[in-house]
Amino acid sequence: MSFTTVDPAPARLNRSELAVPGGRPELFEKAARSQADVVFLDLEDAVAPVEKEPARRNIISALRDIDWGDKTLSVRINGLDTPYMYRDVIDILEQGGERLDLMMIPKVGAASDVYALDMLTTQVETAMGRKKRVGFELIIESALGMANIDAIAAASPRNESLHFGVADYAASIQARTVGIGGPHPDYGVLTDPRDGETRAYHWGDMWHYAIARLAVAARANGLRPIDGPFGDFSDPDGFRAQANRAAALGCEGKWAIHPSQIDEANALFSPSEEDIAAARRILQTMEQAQKEGRGAASLDGKLIDIASIRQAESLVRRADRATGA
Ligand code: COA
Ligand code: MG
Repeated sequence: MSFTTVDPAPARLNRSELAVPGGRPELFEKAARSQADVVFLDLEDAVAPVEKEPARRNIISALRDIDWGDKTLSVRINGLDTPYMYRDVIDILEQGGERLDLMMIPKVGAASDVYALDMLTTQVETAMGRKKRVGFELIIESALGMANIDAIAAASPRNESLHFGVADYAASIQARTVGIGGPHPDYGVLTDPRDGETRAYHWGDMWHYAIARLAVAARANGLRPIDGPFGDFSDPDGFRAQANRAAALGCEGKWAIHPSQIDEANALFSPSEEDIAAARRILQTMEQAQKEGRGAASLDGKLIDIASIRQAESLVRRADRATGA
């Protein structure tokens, strides 16, 4: 291990994160009763400019009046370049009571964006005598944000997670797509011509770099990497594929932009029975190997070593969190 240690953010289940527009208060109770691990009430892009103030009032009432149970509760504020953001922070922290856990900051472009919000949040919290420190969820969804991702991830002790905002990111880098997440038919490879063989076209994952990069920046700073939205909520197979590839790259969860995506995300981001059993066998085998003074062993014809213990322990810890053990 490096002599530099990485402190993990507070552990929270973040398998599914339900987006709820602040302008649709009739959805709030449904969100509170859903199985989502995290709910974020949105003041940003799901709210039209004329609705910004009523949405803020709706959210303040919902923070005070709705029983959110043990959910992690977040509010997505407007961007730092808008005339709404300062009042989002001040009104929500001054009037919303103590229930709020996290604030989601969209379109973060530089570490100074996070610093500015930390300063404002700290002032209001201190003035209010707020006991619970609000954590930050940061959306990486621009070329600038991706270019500065390491500094952004390290910018505040309030930081808990990095989220990949695929639609704004696509717009920012001028990618050739108007979908919200998912693959693109132009992003693929054609296999070489070979005698007698039909050439195959393989679709690739055009978001691979962004998600892998985000996972690295998040983990290097003890934060949760979270995959953002998949807009086609009528395509559960597509959602499953997107969620599985994000999980394979290390993400802890994914947004749900419709309630139908919640159960899928909870299931896909919980380690399977099979994975847990395999991890436990690795731990048992390595315990035995270490008793015998060996750092490496074989299990089912494959090498396992001390790194395998860390992988297995990380999986078992996630499984325990998912089951509340
Ligand atoms: N939170 C809680 N409940 C929701 C919900 C949400 N985000 N979206 C839909 N529902 C409820 C509906 O009220 C409906 O409830 P009912 O069965 O009691 O009538 C049920 O789930 C099925 O909804 P449906 O009719 O299929 O969806 P819709 O047409 O009302 O809304 C969307 C579809 C996509 C507009 C809506 O899901 C939505 O606004 N999602 C969030 C979008 C968002 O926040 N985007 C910003 C981040 S990318
Ligand atoms: Mg966005």
